[in-house]
Amino acid sequence: GAPIEVDLTPIQDGQIINVFWRGKLIFVRKLTSKEVTDMKAVPLNQQIDPAAFDTRVKNGHDQWLVVYGNCTHLGCVPIGHQGNFEGWACPCHGSQFDAVGRVRRGPAPINLPIPPYAFQSDSKIRIG
Ligand code: FES
Repeated sequence: GAPIEVDLTPIQDGQIINVFWRGKLIFVRKLTSKEVTDMKAVPLNQQIDPAAFDTRVKNGHDQWLVVYGNCTHLGCVPIGHQGNFEGWACPCHGSQFDAVGRVRRGPAPINLPIPPYAFQSDSKIRIG
């Protein structure tokens, strides 16, 4: 599939939007400053698939998360702003993800993957 561009301008602090690339659901989320602070503070040893904050966002764009939107257990779509970790809760078997898509409660085994993307400007990304 061809790359897609996403205009970030309309996305508000704390908002999650859904986009599709190559037939796959992708979440684009603008973190609040509190979420950024909280996510940076999560120790690696409290994580199932340990990943430092900096590996989940692009350098200089701490507020933006771009992840595939299917649970890494069996593929259901997690619900945003639910669960105990400021992120998502999966309605199928209870996995929970934090605000940067790291799995914090199983059975999902790994974090929500990050698709290939790049910032074209501060307000536009290209996925693919
Ligand atoms: Fe999400 Fe099973 S598909 S917990």
